[in-house]
Amino acid sequence: MKRIFSGVQPTGNLHLGNYLGAIRNFVPLQDEYDCIYCVVDLHAITVWQDPAVLKANTREVAAAYLAAGIDPKRCIIFNQSQVAAHAELAWIFNCVARLGWLNRMTQFKEKAGKHRENASVGLYAYPSLMAADILAYKATHVPVGEDQKQHLELTRDIAQKFNSDFGVAYFPLLEPLILGTATRVMSLRDGTKKMSKSDPSDYSRITMTDDADAIAKKFRKATSDAELLPGPEVLDDSGAVPEAIRQARPEAYNLLAIYAALADKPMADVLTEFAGAQFSKFKGALSDLAVARLGPIGAEMKRLSDDPGAVDAVLRDGAQRARAIAEPILAEVYDIVGFLRP
Ligand code: TRP
Repeated sequence: MKRIFSGVQPTGNLHLGNYLGAIRNFVPLQDEYDCIYCVVDLHAITVWQDPAVLKANTREVAAAYLAAGIDPKRCIIFNQSQVAAHAELAWIFNCVARLGWLNRMTQFKEKAGKHRENASVGLYAYPSLMAADILAYKATHVPVGEDQKQHLELTRDIAQKFNSDFGVAYFPLLEPLILGTATRVMSLRDGTKKMSKSDPSDYSRITMTDDADAIAKKFRKATSDAELLPGPEVLDDSGAVPEAIRQARPEAYNLLAIYAALADKPMADVLTEFAGAQFSKFKGALSDLAVARLGPIGAEMKRLSDDPGAVDAVLRDGAQRARAIAEPILAEVYDIVGFLRP
């Protein structure tokens, strides 16, 4: 069976972008693949995390996986730091990856900003840890949002260089799975910026635990424009919104894309339904839909947050099953590299 690996960082404020761009897409894959879903706490500490908050956020991501419908019996759900193979393989990959490769990573440039000299070494080496996450299980398929594509290409480069340096055909070359209509969910205040956990305005994002009132209020206050909603004539032959058209009305197309993703409908159907409508009417329909989809998930997350023991049991069991896969692979890698294990 083909193996899926993906991860979400426990950095708080899980929002609609995390749900539509990642977590939601993990659910149907469990019917077809052997799936491993990780809470990547080692990645989280590449920037400062308050220890108590990190623990709470780790449980929150696990709760989101469970509430969204990932079955902990069929899938493996665990937190990264529980399986030492991630850090151990990452070190080997640090010695395979080249400085020049990491220097090209746009996520590092964005996160380090102007203060590059002050960024942690971990933030720089982030992509080799990500390659280790995937390859410690020889995963072949990795569902991620658009923004992680460059890291997956680097993972392929690392796998290829390892294989060629050691003259083996050991690591598989993975396939990215970029899924869903709204893999890039933008801020509700500014349609040119990604929805983000760190935006100072709560109104910029819908979180996975927002209640019905909060969801309605945030969509009501969401930035829109003065025109009526467009119809399906704006779409190109493949049914996508052309980039130039989207850029002219970023907020409108963001809300439409969110609607299409939540409704699980093609954009064409949504545009046909709301062509010529006013934003007030569309936003009402969008809030109702979001409440219907997210309400039960948020409620289950709240229930699980009152039962941390249940979440911890899932993580403990998942880590044990993850180790059973990763440890033999790491032992083979150690042998290939030439580490003596007398
Ligand atoms: N870097 C990913 C993100 O920020 C999270 C991640 C870590 C991941 N390791 C991974 C995703 C391995 C897929 C596979 O979204």
